[in-house]
Amino acid sequence: MIQFSNITVNYSYVPGALKDINLKLRKGDFTLLLGPTGSGKSTLLRLIYMDILPSDGIVTVDKWSSYHITPRQINLLRRNIGVVFQDFKLIENMSVYENVALPLIIEGYRRRYIKRLVHILLDEVNMLQSANQRASTLSLGEKQRVAIARAMAKNPFVIIADEPTGNLDREASQNVLSLLERIHQNGTSVIMATHDYELIKDTPYRRIYIENGQVLPPTRTIATPKTRINLLTQTE
Ligand SMILES: Nc1ncnc2c1ncn2[C@@H]1O[C@H](COP(=O)(O)OP(=O)(O)OP(=O)(O)O)[C@@H](O)[C@H]1O
Ligand SMILES: [Mg+2]
Repeated sequence: MIQFSNITVNYSYVPGALKDINLKLRKGDFTLLLGPTGSGKSTLLRLIYMDILPSDGIVTVDKWSSYHITPRQINLLRRNIGVVFQDFKLIENMSVYENVALPLIIEGYRRRYIKRLVHILLDEVNMLQSANQRASTLSLGEKQRVAIARAMAKNPFVIIADEPTGNLDREASQNVLSLLERIHQNGTSVIMATHDYELIKDTPYRRIYIENGQVLPPTRTIATPKTRINLLTQTE
């Protein structure tokens, strides 16, 4: 579904934010992206929704390739990807309902269809009772649930979550993880970057460790899980 072939990303003052990454992510998987701050997790995720293009190498996402994708095709690709951020990126002075409906209104869906769908989405994230509440008045955990409903609105094949629990307490974090797990069980792929090793420690999902712009070989991470945990907690 997603393939990174010899990917290097150079930012203007940070050459080698990612260095020669080769990675395949399969459809239907729940993938965890782990690594210390500045290791390149967000950079890797941004490549998937082609917010940035690689300096070298090719990213393939579904039927699209970074090598010859046009700006119009990037818009098309993004319609099929749901993105969730640490800081939610809700429109604070809009209601919960309006935040989730907005991407559908922009796409020109009919009002009755939007109303029905937003109702279903808010129900799924347990926010239906707050549909008319202003986003600015929600708790952080509630904000993230609304952001996830919005990300699901266009029925994406993959949800990309960049530190989705970074601003949340333990209970709200667990709640968001459970929600992403339910979305995954319903057939959507999920790729989540996180620092929160405690939160994911008992999950069975594939873990990809990044350090210093490089993916650590899986043999090392499987062979020495304890070392890996220590390394992660030490560096944060
Ligand atoms: N827009 C940018 N311009 C310049 N350098 C950047 C930019 N975004 C990231 N970097 C640099 O690239 C490297 C990787 O950053 P990235 O944000 O991908 O790390 P991360 O693993 O997501 O970190 P964190 O856990 O803190 O979110 C860092 O050295 C960072 O300073
Ligand atoms: Mg990041």
